[in-house]
Amino acid sequence: MASFDEAPPGNPTTGAKIFKTKCAQCHTVDKGAGHKQGLAKSEWTFGRQSGTTAGYSYSAANKNMAVQWEEKTLYDYLLNPKKYIPGTKMVFPGLKKPQDRADLISYLKESTA
Ligand code: HEC
Repeated sequence: MASFDEAPPGNPTTGAKIFKTKCAQCHTVDKGAGHKQGLAKSEWTFGRQSGTTAGYSYSAANKNMAVQWEEKTLYDYLLNPKKYIPGTKMVFPGLKKPQDRADLISYLKESTA
């Protein structure tokens, strides 16, 4: 699997659009907006350990994953969430295009750093 080291440069503006169409129905960008089906985006910010957002009831799989969410891990996770975290309750098929993931990650980094 190609790693983030080989990813193309990300464009946060495009990433914002991808977030809106692919993630926003379950995750919110607003701090304090509460949890939708997923969690507040600002809660799983960069460098934070997986499964540690207060007040959200994770699957055991997500909780036990114990990964730091940063470029490399998000890049691999978002390719195929179910493969990266078997048993996750996040229903998302993944973003197959390296460019899409790079753009999205640059947006997430910019808006949650
Ligand atoms: C259909 C709803 C849905 C969509 C669409 C979705 N997610 Fe999720 N996401 C979830 C749920 C539910 C969880 C919690 C999974 C668990 O507990 O097993 C989650 C968990 C996560 C986590 C782990 C959080 C943590 O604290 O460990 C990340 C990171 C994440 N999602 C990113 C994304 C991104 C980026 C997108 C868009 C590309 C996306 N998700 C699309 C529902 C969704």
